[in-house]
Amino acid sequence: MEQLTELRDTIVAEVTSASGLAALDEIRVSALGKKGRITALMKGLGSMDPEARKEAGQSLNALKEEIAQKIESRKISLESLEIESRINSERVDVSLPVRPESEGTLHPISQTIEEIVAIFGPMGFEVAEGPDIEDDFHNFTALNFPPDHPAREMHDTFFIPPQEDGARHLLRTHTSPVQIRVMQEHKPPIRILAPGRAYRCDYDITHTPMFHQVEGLVIDKSTHMGHLKGCLIEFANAYFEVDDPPVRFRPSYFPFTEPSAEMDIGCSRNNGELKIGAGADWLEILGCGMVHPSVIKACGLDPDVYQGFAFGMGVERVAMLKYGIPDLRTFFESDLRWLKHYGFSALDVPSLVGGLSP
Ligand code: DAH
Repeated sequence: MEQLTELRDTIVAEVTSASGLAALDEIRVSALGKKGRITALMKGLGSMDPEARKEAGQSLNALKEEIAQKIESRKISLESLEIESRINSERVDVSLPVRPESEGTLHPISQTIEEIVAIFGPMGFEVAEGPDIEDDFHNFTALNFPPDHPAREMHDTFFIPPQEDGARHLLRTHTSPVQIRVMQEHKPPIRILAPGRAYRCDYDITHTPMFHQVEGLVIDKSTHMGHLKGCLIEFANAYFEVDDPPVRFRPSYFPFTEPSAEMDIGCSRNNGELKIGAGADWLEILGCGMVHPSVIKACGLDPDVYQGFAFGMGVERVAMLKYGIPDLRTFFESDLRWLKHYGFSALDVPSLVGGLSP
């Protein structure tokens, strides 16, 4: 009995001072395992006479249970100590900024389209879309390009092999076909903005075979050239973030507008540095005009009732001018250093510091 009390005290002392879960498990094995100290005593019961065995058996069982319980409760407290020390040593600082490596950027094309939409949106323009693969009618015929008009060649079109019925599809050479689709589907008043891709067989410092345009179209009963000029001047103010930059509308030619114009913005070039909004030079920023009556007619509307204006601008071009990007081809080379340099934080709303006039 005395021996048992001594063993108990030893094991309890061991359990209490166990430094960790692994050490505690070793103590458990050495006391209650197959070759453990208490197990060894249990094994000795068989050789005792029945009276002594009964008494010793009860004490041993009680000891076994007590030790098992002590181990269990020590285990629980060691576990919570371990968790606590992990919490202390592995604390996550949620206030730290995210790692810059994982941050992507918004491509200047996406940013510029968002800026343009943000400017025309409050003027009542809705975004419209059309397919990249167009048919001859929407890309040329309905836009008043006669069958042998040289402008068709001018466009360096990517044609798709003709279908069985002879229909000739192509990669749209401009976003103007969206005008046709909108006029065919919606009754005026119409005010749309159609950003999207366009394709031409061209490749140099200012041309890539795929590029982006934003098309604008307004059709109503009393739309006139003054509306066109007002909208586009407002756009130039807000987009280039300069107050009342000099602009001029230079007569031009497009088959789908009459009269047609090109809008230029005043600029200066000093030692290769381009400054927009002042100076003696002019930079072309977009094409525009009053929608040709033949186009309105081709869409099933009466040109004696409805008229309107349209404009089209190259997204890369206006992005290059605003953000000082010298080579158009770099937009599509997916060079991460370029994207980091010219890209925008995805969390920023379009930056229009100059803003719209109230
Ligand atoms: N589609 C013309 C082009 O790609 C751009 C353009 C000019 C669109 C005048 C228009 C416009 O809507 O009125 O060069």
